[in-house]
Amino acid sequence: MIHSRRIMAVVSVAGASAVLAGITIASSVSTVRVAPVGLIGSVAAIRPVTIQTRAAEGSPWVGSGSCAASNCHGSIAPVPGWPILGNEHTTWIGDDPHARAFQVLLEPRSERIARNLAGGGQVIPAHRDPRCLACHSVPRPESFRAGTEWMDADGVGCEACHGPARDWLGPHTTEAWRLGQIARPPSFWATDDLETRVRTCAGCHIGRHDPSSGLIQDVNHDLIAAGHPRLDFEFAADHDRMPPHWTPRGIEQSEDFPARAWLIGQRVGLEEVLSLTVARASSPSAPWPEFSEYGCAGCHHDLTDRTPPIGSAGAYQWATWHAAGVEAAAAVLGNQGPVAHTLEPLTTHMNRPVPPRAQAAQTAQAAAQGLAALLQVPPRLDSSTIRHAIAELERPANPRSPNDHDRQAQRYLGLVPLYQTLERQGADPAELETLRTRLETMRERLMQTQPALP
Ligand code: HEC
Ligand code: HEC
Ligand code: HEC
Ligand code: HEC
Repeated sequence: MIHSRRIMAVVSVAGASAVLAGITIASSVSTVRVAPVGLIGSVAAIRPVTIQTRAAEGSPWVGSGSCAASNCHGSIAPVPGWPILGNEHTTWIGDDPHARAFQVLLEPRSERIARNLAGGGQVIPAHRDPRCLACHSVPRPESFRAGTEWMDADGVGCEACHGPARDWLGPHTTEAWRLGQIARPPSFWATDDLETRVRTCAGCHIGRHDPSSGLIQDVNHDLIAAGHPRLDFEFAADHDRMPPHWTPRGIEQSEDFPARAWLIGQRVGLEEVLSLTVARASSPSAPWPEFSEYGCAGCHHDLTDRTPPIGSAGAYQWATWHAAGVEAAAAVLGNQGPVAHTLEPLTTHMNRPVPPRAQAAQTAQAAAQGLAALLQVPPRLDSSTIRHAIAELERPANPRSPNDHDRQAQRYLGLVPLYQTLERQGADPAELETLRTRLETMRERLMQTQPALP
């Protein structure tokens, strides 16, 4: 079952009664949640806080416990009149899967992965394995782990997305910070910028090799064959599914936010995929070609998969998941031809049985450069653009082009934010209703044709 949770959850977070309930409720919630933003200007003073940290000597990370005081981010309920909700830690620890990311490493599923990875040799317990902790705790290079192991138990804590807090923990509680009189240090990550936000998620949800710190975050085919779920990240859907501990502000308040998040998520996501390919190709110790980058059905032929075969039978297809998403985004932006053309030199190399590493790295780099300009999102996506985009994604696939489950799922995951955008733009309920019915049918079909994997 590769995408089931993603597809199911995108449309049914709010329960099973109305299949697309999640969509409606998510947007009406954001309308309500927009209100408190106005309070920011009216807050007279920020309450003084005492911060206790137990950071190891020299560690720029302080741990999520340092954010949890009830007068900081650990209030039980949103605090009226505050510039922020105040209960971020409570939401995270209670509802957010990230808070359980370390616990998962102690479960039988992870024990099995660890046993399989050891292949009969010495088993490294998952909760001590740097390969797992690189994404299931606050990512820190090995040199910093010593002395901060206690922090692992936080799972994907606050600093995994907001940056190491030592240098801004004190300043960020002050009035001067709130008024913008203190420059944000680079270690305070700008999650309010959508592109930065996508990159933050991508490190763990796509994977990353960071040459400057030596940190390797990689779910390769060895991990997948050992039992790790395939990473099929789609920013808009995953962002929607994260229980928000913030009030929408800035770009999140714009009517076209869902569509914009989807398009930017596709562009930046593919850039991250390409960087990972470059890193894997350039690392002599990394398996090559890296099977996890390919369509799984190309090698794992599966009788329960009723979708048409991918390309010519038995051929490798590189990046079926991410390329299908970008193809959908390119169709919407009217750039499908040039985008396919830009990716072609790379896919030609990658679809060979043994792609030459150097050429793969080189063409991946070139593709990333070319795509950045082709996938720019216009400053405004009005309803007619959105309607046109929906028609593009609903257009039956060219019978000669591959039309596998990955492609259909990505089109569906593109249509959902387009629907959400039309709804925010105040489209006619009857129009929304018919679109919703079509999306439900699409979702049902996707659920029924889930390819089962070994
Ligand atoms: C590149 C980052 C990364 C690495 C490395 C990684 N994981 Fe994960 N893991 C994830 C993400 C992201 C998910 C959530 C997958 C999803 O649903 O999209 C996940 C999910 C899981 C799950 C399923 C959890 C659930 O709630 O269903 C298990 C079990 C797991 N990982 C164990 C491990 C183990 C054991 C290792 C080390 C051998 C490991 N992971 C290494 C990122 C990673
Ligand atoms: C998986 C990623 C992730 C984790 C983990 C996370 N956050 Fe966030 N946080 C976000 C995103 C995304 C936003 C929305 C973007 C923004 O407003 O900057 C956000 C927004 C916020 C905001 C609102 C900022 C504002 O100015 O409105 C606060 C405060 C915050 N987070 C605190 C925390 C705390 C405290 C924790 C740990 C308990 C935490 N976050 C954990 C991703 C994360
Ligand atoms: C430090 C690594 C890391 C970062 C950064 C991160 N995640 Fe995750 N995420 C994980 C892991 C690991 C899991 C699996 C947790 C589990 O199931 O216990 C996960 C799970 C999830 C899930 C639930 C997946 C499922 O199938 O149930 C969603 C949704 C999600 N992340 C969204 C996001 C978004 C959106 C961002 C960026 C704003 C983000 N994550 C940033 C590591 C990370
Ligand atoms: C290029 C061919 C190829 C591709 C592409 C490929 N695999 Fe595999 N897979 C294999 C081979 C060969 C094995 C057996 C050797 C091994 O365990 O690595 C295997 C083993 C597995 C296993 C373990 C099966 C078992 O019975 O132990 C799983 C699970 C798996 N693959 C999942 C996937 C997923 C999910 C994808 C797509 C992201 C994928 N594979 C892509 C060739 C491939």
